[in-house]
Amino acid sequence: MKSTTRWTLSIVLFYLFSFALAQDQEQEQEVVVETQQQEVVYDSAIVPEGTAIHKLTLNNFASFIKSNDLILGEFTVPWCVHSKILLPELVKAADLLEQEKGIKVFQVDCSVDGPLCDQIGISYYPSLKAFKNHRLMKDNEYSGRRTSEDIYDFMVNQVASPVKRINTDEQLNDQYLNKDSMELPVVVYYGNIDEFDPIFDKTANDLFNSFTFVAYKDCNETMRGNVTLYLPPVAPEEMQQNNHTVRPETDIFSFENPTSLTEVDDLKNWLLYSRLPYFDNANIENYRLYMESKLPLAYFFYIAPQEYMDNKEYFGELGKKYRGKMNFLALNAMIFHSHVKFLNMKEQFPLFAIHDLKYNLKYGLPQMSEEEYKAQTELLKLDHSDITELVETFMDGTAVPVVKSEEIPTEQHGNVTKVVGLNHDDMVRDPKRDVVVRYFASWCAQSRKLEPIYNGIADMFAGDDETKDKITFLDVDASANDILSFPVTGFPTIVIYPAGSNDPPIVHTSAAARNNILLFIRDNSFYHLDGFELVKKYNLDNDEEEEAGEIAQEINPSSDETNHDEL
Ligand SMILES: *[C@@H]1O[C@H](CO)[C@@H](O)[C@H](O)[C@H]1NC(C)=O
Ligand SMILES: *[C@@H]1O[C@H](CO)[C@@H](O)[C@H](O)[C@H]1NC(C)=O
Ligand SMILES: *[C@@H]1O[C@H](CO)[C@@H](O)[C@H](O)[C@H]1NC(C)=O
Ligand SMILES: *[C@@H]1O[C@H](CO)[C@@H](O)[C@H](O)[C@H]1NC(C)=O
Repeated sequence: MKSTTRWTLSIVLFYLFSFALAQDQEQEQEVVVETQQQEVVYDSAIVPEGTAIHKLTLNNFASFIKSNDLILGEFTVPWCVHSKILLPELVKAADLLEQEKGIKVFQVDCSVDGPLCDQIGISYYPSLKAFKNHRLMKDNEYSGRRTSEDIYDFMVNQVASPVKRINTDEQLNDQYLNKDSMELPVVVYYGNIDEFDPIFDKTANDLFNSFTFVAYKDCNETMRGNVTLYLPPVAPEEMQQNNHTVRPETDIFSFENPTSLTEVDDLKNWLLYSRLPYFDNANIENYRLYMESKLPLAYFFYIAPQEYMDNKEYFGELGKKYRGKMNFLALNAMIFHSHVKFLNMKEQFPLFAIHDLKYNLKYGLPQMSEEEYKAQTELLKLDHSDITELVETFMDGTAVPVVKSEEIPTEQHGNVTKVVGLNHDDMVRDPKRDVVVRYFASWCAQSRKLEPIYNGIADMFAGDDETKDKITFLDVDASANDILSFPVTGFPTIVIYPAGSNDPPIVHTSAAARNNILLFIRDNSFYHLDGFELVKKYNLDNDEEEEAGEIAQEINPSSDETNHDEL
């Protein structure tokens, strides 16, 4: 499930929303909730061993979410009285849910794993949140009575398929296609083709937060076999505010071979871009829809609203022409100027750039030197033919990306060599040595935690005559350098390029603890270098490092490739 877009998205959102988040730091608090007069049975709100409630931490959270389709989570702290009162009911509900329905309940102690609770957006205790299909549900907060019966019913009701099945035109038109009450885009699957049913259901399971899925089996002949997307009308205020370039109100998906498995992705991808206008003004709400569609995203940064108006028609045409291949979005440079750093561009406006989300590559129209830009006395104007040309060369694969790299370091310290984007590809391939690389991000706490462990391993191999000429350890700050040959999906990532090999690197996938890394090196290095031997030989075993424990990769567990509603 990991993909380039996932971490790219985190970074993009980080840039775009950091200003918003800064204003939105809610203080965590205990919320007083209506509870029946109940006794406190447990001393601590943290569940003891031996119940059906699973205890999750930062380390096992993501894998638990990924391996269960429907789960309920309680986020709390040991001293919270309301959580203590809730606990016996929750334990009872968890027992029944697990035994009868196979639905799991877990608990996170926010006094231990605060960052995890922050990520989920917990602002009071206890918070009960439901996760479905590996992400937070849209109405994820359980706010019903805190009794085992109600909690049980709430979760069991979530099992139902999100596809609404109807039989008549009246139902369709009154309940779902009524423009006055339509909130989400509605996807109607007319007729039934046995092979297509599971594809439609699966797509619905993935996208139920963002679309309403309707199956209309007994429709008339004309519509049979159609999957049609109906979009809600754009509110006039919004139309005015954003100066939308129109998008069609309905769109038809045609599939050629309903049995092929790729159809799920085809249908999904089609839905994710068909709901977008041809060209729009970015805001926090619509921005994530563009990210979710995963198509290359073309940015037009403008300063004056007039610039936007002057270019609207042109970009609208491009959006129409490249529908399904590239999305086009306008960004107000007054608000989103820092976002250009992420695109490897300078803050010179107007600006046109393309971000290829799949490979995390950026392309842009040439920019001036700082002096030249400062010397400008009039507003710059972009030439439409330059933009068209960049889009065309991007489409035929001949455009050259703008690569971000730090300077190649002139001196190195220690046994781990610092590598940058410019020399990465030369450094990782060595005919005589195994090369281990740690890709980190300077802002990522998990990366910093791994650093001493990684350096310790490098020191150990460097200190032994048998191993010192057979292996090299490198470090890359992947947040400051674009690595085109190896787009990193999470931080930290450790890989090995075995000596003499030109294959893609082998990626370390278990938790980043010292012994796991030693095992990884022993199993995958060309020379099968055994770090455990060195630990024994030099008596290097120390508990401290192991206690540092597992290091989780920093990827947002509540996001996934197709849905970021809860970020
Ligand atoms: C067939 O069904 C569609 C949608 O249910 C409806 O709009 C259309 O008028 C129907 N056509 C005929 C010929 O009944
Ligand atoms: C889908 O619906 C349109 C009319 O809306 C119709 O022309 C077409 O034949 C239908 N069937 C298919 C398979 O596209
Ligand atoms: C939208 O268009 C109106 C004129 O039709 C203009 O006054 C307004 O500034 C535009 N808004 C944006 C965000 O460009
Ligand atoms: C490199 O490793 C050797 C052998 O373990 C050690 O003696 C030396 O201090 C290390 N270098 C640095 C700068 O840490």
